[in-house]
Amino acid sequence: MSHPRSSQAAQSSYGYIVSFHDLRPTPAAFRQEVIAGLRRARKAIPSKFFYDQRGSALFDKICQLEEYYLTRIETDLLERHAAEIAALIGDEALLIEYGSGSGRKTRVLLDQLPTLAAYVPVDISKEHLLAVAAELSQEYPCLRVTPVCADYTQEMAFPDFEEFPYRRRVVFFPGSSIGNFAPDEAEIFLRRAAEVARENGALLIGVDLRKDPTVIDAAYNDRQGVTAAFNLNLLRRINAELDADFDLRLFDHRAFYDPTHGRVEMHLVSSQSQTVRIGDEAFSFAAGEAIHTEDSYKYDLEDFQAMATRAGWKTKAAWQDERRYFAICLFTVT
Ligand code: AVJ
Repeated sequence: MSHPRSSQAAQSSYGYIVSFHDLRPTPAAFRQEVIAGLRRARKAIPSKFFYDQRGSALFDKICQLEEYYLTRIETDLLERHAAEIAALIGDEALLIEYGSGSGRKTRVLLDQLPTLAAYVPVDISKEHLLAVAAELSQEYPCLRVTPVCADYTQEMAFPDFEEFPYRRRVVFFPGSSIGNFAPDEAEIFLRRAAEVARENGALLIGVDLRKDPTVIDAAYNDRQGVTAAFNLNLLRRINAELDADFDLRLFDHRAFYDPTHGRVEMHLVSSQSQTVRIGDEAFSFAAGEAIHTEDSYKYDLEDFQAMATRAGWKTKAAWQDERRYFAICLFTVT
């Protein structure tokens, strides 16, 4: 459970923001998780650590790639069904968005929800979160924007938001970020989201669907190498923040879809035998040894809805593109 470092008015350079809740993981927690992951027999680092300022910018670039169909299809679906979605959400909702990203999809919703009580973006990447929150409060001057910097994969002391009235809480979790959890953890996350949403709450969530493996493989192995840069940026970040000496030239990006488990795995593969230092700890790599950096699970829509039902949600609606590459689901608390 993380605890608030501060709840404050954000710095004036970001303008406009009313209040900001800082529940960010500490540098010590980052160090501890990286070292524990690299001590494992199969080395791994949690994917949430991709998102420093540079990582968030690289991810925004991924979202614009031709090969990365997820963002394009989800944004199209939102645009096409925005009025219907807004009608199902209703007036004066409190919109809580996990992993708020570039704000592009948020704008599609905000345009249809003029009576929104407040918008609460939750993101682990502080600079990115505040920049996007400031942009949105400038573009929507009547909207109350209350950013929360937090690792939403952990249980957190969520602010109460009782200072302004709202009719219901709506959790917005786009991008198929739910895919970063293994299915059993995803179910736990959905159960916790139902608690956050409370009675009469709703969940609007994007899910990437199982499909032709070549389509998925291409999305995580783009020709421009943006995904490779995003993956390798994790090592650059560890060097900068944890006094480490990873040589980025000696690790290669690897991503592949495993249809049996329905997941993309991303790794950073050591091209030779080497020793890497983090502070006063040393980690040896054999040639070809990998650090597992991400899983991205793909679902069948019915399986996903069954999982949400087990987690306490009731299916209200779902929208898919013609090829059934991606789905947006709306659930309500039972
Ligand atoms: C933000 C977790 C949805 O899994 O597709 C993109 C992250 N990793 N390319 C995904 C990601 C490599 C993305 N999510």
